[in-house]
Amino acid sequence: MPTLSEALVYLNGEFSPLGEAKISVMDRGFLLGDAVYEVIPVFSGVPFRLAHHLNRLNNSLKAIKIPEPLEQKSWISIIEKLCAQFTDENQSIYLQVTRGISPTRDHVFPQDAKPTVFIMAKPVDMDTLPDPYQGVSAITIDDIRWRYCYIKATTLLANVLAKQSALEQDASEAILIRDGNALEGAASNLFIVKDNNIITPPKSENLLPGITRDVILELANNHDLVVTESNISLDELGNADEIWLTSSVKEVVPVVTLDNQPVADGHPGEQWKKMKLLYEDFKKSLSPQPSH
Ligand SMILES: Cc1ncc(COP(=O)(O)O)c(C=O)c1O
Repeated sequence: MPTLSEALVYLNGEFSPLGEAKISVMDRGFLLGDAVYEVIPVFSGVPFRLAHHLNRLNNSLKAIKIPEPLEQKSWISIIEKLCAQFTDENQSIYLQVTRGISPTRDHVFPQDAKPTVFIMAKPVDMDTLPDPYQGVSAITIDDIRWRYCYIKATTLLANVLAKQSALEQDASEAILIRDGNALEGAASNLFIVKDNNIITPPKSENLLPGITRDVILELANNHDLVVTESNISLDELGNADEIWLTSSVKEVVPVVTLDNQPVADGHPGEQWKKMKLLYEDFKKSLSPQPSH
C-alpha cells in the first residue's frame, strides 16, 4: 500500500503522487479563498452518500458561479480509482474546486478561467478516533462567519478560530451562537434532545446542510422518534437533556460538557444511544454483501 505522500491524487485531469502535486501561486483558491469543497467518508470501501455530496458540491458551485468542472460519472470514477489504492475499509475523500488561475490578483472573476479540481483519498483508522461513548466537551462562541454558511466554502478562518478557542479551553468543538440562537458547530451540525423530542435548527443561509444531519433526520423519522426542526435558543441549549454533534467525520457524538458545565448528568443520553445504534445499523446495511 502507498504511504500518504506516495498515494495518487487527482489534480486537473492528471493522477500524481500527493508529494508531487502542485498548484500555481496565482490560483484563486490560494490567493482569495475562492473555492468550495467536500469531505466524503468511505465505509467498507463504499463512498457514503456520494450522490448527496456531489449534489451539495454542485449547489455550492452554483452559489458562487463556478461552472461544474466534471460530470457526475467522472467524479465517481475518479473517486473509485483513488479509493482503490488502499485496502482500508474506512477512508475519507477530500475534494476541492477553485475558480482557477488569474493572470493578476484581482477580485473580479477572470475571463475563461478553468476551475482547479483537486481530489485525494486517505485511510481513516477508526480506532484512533475519540470513543463516542465517552462524549465530548464543547464551548459556545459568537458566530462571526459571513452570511452564506450554506455554501461549503474553503474560507474557514472564523471556523478555524472558533475551533482553536475550543481546544484552548480543553473542548473539542465550538457551538456557534448568532442572534441568541445556537446554529451548528465549527465543523458539525447541532441537535438537542428535550423531553425525548430531538430538535435541530432548520436549514437556512446560517448553517451548512449537513449530509449526516439528513441521515439522522431520516433515521429518526423511520423509527418513530419525535423530531422537530426549529431554532434552538442559547437558553434551550443550556437546559437540554442531551446535545449531539453530527458530521461525516464525527458521525454522531454526544456533548457531555458545555462551557464547563455537565449536560444533564454529564453522560451520553438514552436517545443518543438509540440513534448511535440506528446509525451503525444503517452503515452496515450499505456494506457490500459477500457473494456466495
Ligand atoms: C460548519 C459545518 N457544519 C456542518 C458540518 C457537517 O456536515 P456533513 O455532515 O455533511 O459532514 C460540517 C462538516 O464539515 C461543517 O463544516
